[in-house]
Amino acid sequence: MKNLLSMEHLTTEEINQILDLAQAFENGETSSLSRTYKVANLFFEPSTRTKTSFEMAEYKIGCHVIPFDAGFSSVTKGETMYDTVKTLEMIGLDAVIIRASEDEYYNELLDGINVAIINAGDGAGQHPSQSLLDLYTIKKEFGYFEGLNVTIAGDISHSRVAKSNATALQNLGANVHFLCPEEWSGGFEAHHSWDNLIEISDVIMLLRVQHERHKVNKSFSKEGYHQEFGLTIEREKQMKESAIIMHPAPVNRDVEIASELVECDRSRIFEQVRNGVYTRMAIMETILKGRE
Ligand code: CP
Repeated sequence: MKNLLSMEHLTTEEINQILDLAQAFENGETSSLSRTYKVANLFFEPSTRTKTSFEMAEYKIGCHVIPFDAGFSSVTKGETMYDTVKTLEMIGLDAVIIRASEDEYYNELLDGINVAIINAGDGAGQHPSQSLLDLYTIKKEFGYFEGLNVTIAGDISHSRVAKSNATALQNLGANVHFLCPEEWSGGFEAHHSWDNLIEISDVIMLLRVQHERHKVNKSFSKEGYHQEFGLTIEREKQMKESAIIMHPAPVNRDVEIASELVECDRSRIFEQVRNGVYTRMAIMETILKGRE
């Protein structure tokens, strides 16, 4: 694997190899890379988890992380993404991890660039490392995907997490259900009320309402959304005993999920963050090994 751009490019075999390697890292295996690779994290959109988690993963597999501050880079003076990444290649980097607001920004990097590209989120497109850590979390919980009912609830149209996970989970044999207000379905066939989704779901994956990507909508009510589409205290009580709650975070507490459910027994929200480090170690190791 030379790059990680979209879950649509990964075979189920490649997904399973990454999940197995993440498990090996969690079990204490160390990196077997043959040299110290130089990498940089280029985040043109805000991030807490993904950026820090990649930095920790890079540190744990022995990479040198070269600081890159997107807000003080020459991109702010109009330099293109291609010229920025080519410049970093000439300086000696082996891989760059990029988050940017433009869908499929990576297409302009596919010809003429010889550093590995890892997509840490492109606009409303894909978020493959989040999807892989979500899959790792589900696999650790259930041991399989086939036949699991996974409900993805929230701002589907703006969610790169929803798109990445839908493709991967369906390919792995899970039944994926979407729930959202009618205007947020983004072309997916979705439920617009919880119907019986609470009772049948093995995984309820809440998504953040992405206020920053919505045009000002004065009629939006956080409380109204919570009651109609959120995971309320009452709904949680109707979940299967074995079912889990997930959320890629950051969380809008009391909007998509009741605040007191964020750390309840069946919530894996902070566990997902922990799993992200092992998964990103596996992603980085796999891609850098491909360059050896
Ligand atoms: N889940 C996720 O991508 O979080 P950050 O925006 O904090 O990286």
